[in-house]
Amino acid sequence: MNDPVRTAMIGLATGEDEVAVVPLEVADRHRALAEELREHRWNYYILDAPTVSDEIFDSLFHELEEIERRYPALVTPDSPTQVVGPPPSATFAAVRHPSVMLSLDNAFSPEEVRAWHHRLVGAVGEDEVAQSGYLCELKIDGLAVDLLYEDGALVQAATRGDGRTGEDVTANVRSIDVIPRRLTGAPRGRIEIRGEVFMPLQGFADLNARLVAEGKKVFANPRNAAAGSLRLKDPKLSAARPLSFLCHGVGLTDIAFERLSEAYERMAAWGLPVSDQIAPAATIEEVLAYIDDLGRRRHDLSHEIDGAVVKVDVVALQQRVGQTVRAPRWAIAYKFPPAEVTTRLLDIRVGVGRTGRVTPYAVMEPVVVAGSTVEMATLHNASEVERKGVLIGDTVVLRKAGDVIPEVLGPVLALRPADARAFVMPQQCPACHTRLAYEREGDADLRCPNARSCPAQLRERLFHVGSRSALDIEGLGEKAVDALLSAGLLVDEGDLFTLTSDRLLTTDFFTKEIPVDDPQWTGEGRRKKISRTVLTENGTKLLAQLEAAKTKPFARYLIALSIRHLGKGIAPALAARFSAIDALRAADAETLMTVDGVGPQLAEAILDWFTVEWHADIVERWRQAGVVCFQPGAGEAAGERASAGESVEPILAGLTIVVTGTVPGYSRTEATEAIIARGGKAAGSVSKKTDFVVAGDNPGSKYTKAVDLGRPILDSDGFAILLAEGAQGAKRWLDETDH
Ligand code: IVH
Repeated sequence: MNDPVRTAMIGLATGEDEVAVVPLEVADRHRALAEELREHRWNYYILDAPTVSDEIFDSLFHELEEIERRYPALVTPDSPTQVVGPPPSATFAAVRHPSVMLSLDNAFSPEEVRAWHHRLVGAVGEDEVAQSGYLCELKIDGLAVDLLYEDGALVQAATRGDGRTGEDVTANVRSIDVIPRRLTGAPRGRIEIRGEVFMPLQGFADLNARLVAEGKKVFANPRNAAAGSLRLKDPKLSAARPLSFLCHGVGLTDIAFERLSEAYERMAAWGLPVSDQIAPAATIEEVLAYIDDLGRRRHDLSHEIDGAVVKVDVVALQQRVGQTVRAPRWAIAYKFPPAEVTTRLLDIRVGVGRTGRVTPYAVMEPVVVAGSTVEMATLHNASEVERKGVLIGDTVVLRKAGDVIPEVLGPVLALRPADARAFVMPQQCPACHTRLAYEREGDADLRCPNARSCPAQLRERLFHVGSRSALDIEGLGEKAVDALLSAGLLVDEGDLFTLTSDRLLTTDFFTKEIPVDDPQWTGEGRRKKISRTVLTENGTKLLAQLEAAKTKPFARYLIALSIRHLGKGIAPALAARFSAIDALRAADAETLMTVDGVGPQLAEAILDWFTVEWHADIVERWRQAGVVCFQPGAGEAAGERASAGESVEPILAGLTIVVTGTVPGYSRTEATEAIIARGGKAAGSVSKKTDFVVAGDNPGSKYTKAVDLGRPILDSDGFAILLAEGAQGAKRWLDETDH
């Protein structure tokens, strides 16, 4: 053991009478990685309970591949790089696939996709690749299943398992609606159809809601839910799960195809589900454009994907380029950049929101995640900080939930420094030093009770008054609010309409100096310039916008008042029923709850709001300032709808309408207001009961759902007809425009 060479290196037989020398620590790392990856595969495929994210798995796998590339002697037949997945579990009968089910090699950047293309060109020549072209597909996040059809009848369905042998899940697969038990018009013979079983997002949400209601454990993500559901022992239970399937290939086949695209066309004609997102690409540039576009749309789809798959289209060329033991050379999976990263938690601070809620938030070393730099993330409340187990100084895992909102997942314990310290929730408001308190017993959130004057709460409330869904006052942005407060011009939002040019002239933010002729100058010939303080364009704009805001619809004022639980979802319905502040103030809880969507919690919050003295004062001062819907008798006759230039005919009465995406010419609130003002119901989700779906630009998954359920879909022109003429007009428009 004293021999330095023997302790630092090991010799491995290469099978060619040679001994390859591998540094000992590399061999150790290889063994550890291989063991860890096997364990992760077992947890993922067999137990449906992964313990690490896909990104972490991929990076470990990549490290193992790199080691084996440098030291090929370490490659053994059972290395995770050489096998497709773990062998089947004992729960289901094992079945041998008629032909091997392979996995896919991954690319993590456009450059790696390009490199794959160049390897193909290098192997078979540019012309061959160009003549074939590529097919671009979604990489569906589910589990691969092999369907065996004989003379058009489904005879067997199996999971991928280790690629050679999978689990017999025929009984469960038969209950998946979209998988035909018999193919329509398929020729005689055997064909293995490969595809992905997955759970659409809506089905996943519904299933988890059901599990919560039954007091059962929920699934962490749709993939686990799909795998768990397909592998339930009782096919009847599996049948009740919202599983779906999309084809992504062919195994052994008696039916010949020249191209994969031709196979997909025929599969669709036989009644098999084929994705409408598959697109041909003539060049690698087109492939990269598809990937780029898909990256932007990935969250608009009705199911989860984890990337794109690019395949050579011509089957003969696929056969020519062949495969490794694990994956075909004629296909590559592009994986979206990791949405999970690690960074250092520098501090935990607290912020005070509009309603006084005190929220701890993480301050981190800036890090790029899913395309943007993140340095702060909310931690919600003190018990959430404790639940996550993070200490200040920790290295933390950060992800973007839905790729938008950054979320701290937890600490990397192995990297915890000795001086890491726990966060302590302050006892006093960081903005006004009032003692923090829970409003009710059992509340999760501490609040600052100094609602009227706490500078942090006031700042957030004023900013909210100017926000797009409230009074939409562009000039009342964060900087303007800060300037108004530090100049002492506002005690609370009740003072907003008392702003005049004279008062704004006392601030630096809204003023500028301009040179003017000195009227006092009496000297001959020359003129003397002096400077005069005038309002900036922002200042003038703010005053004009405040004046214009006085005639805005009541729904917007309802939002502007910062009443707890009263947001843009319910405000139009409340405004349609009560039309002005006096009518709302006069309503009791029972009357308030006659409005669709108003429950006891909101009714109580509205009643409570009016009992606070300084709230009544805001109403009074806004009334005095001339806000139309705050005037006595407002809304009784022509009312605010007329002032907003809208018809009050209830032509949409009894109709449920869902708006998705941005409808040109309308903000989301305006579109909702327009529907409710005409007696319609503006619903948040599409169901069989939806009468019309209005799809603007960039519609989301509601659009896909509307298509799936066959609901009538209107664009902005159709919406305008619906608002002007009601359902009849919209239906006529749909017929005439051939929708
Ligand atoms: S083709 C021989 N196409 O990804 C090629 N696979 O990471 C084998 N997957 O095991 C697969 N979407 O479960 C292919 N459009 C797609 C896919 C896809 C998802 C899954 C499949 C495969 C895994 C490899």
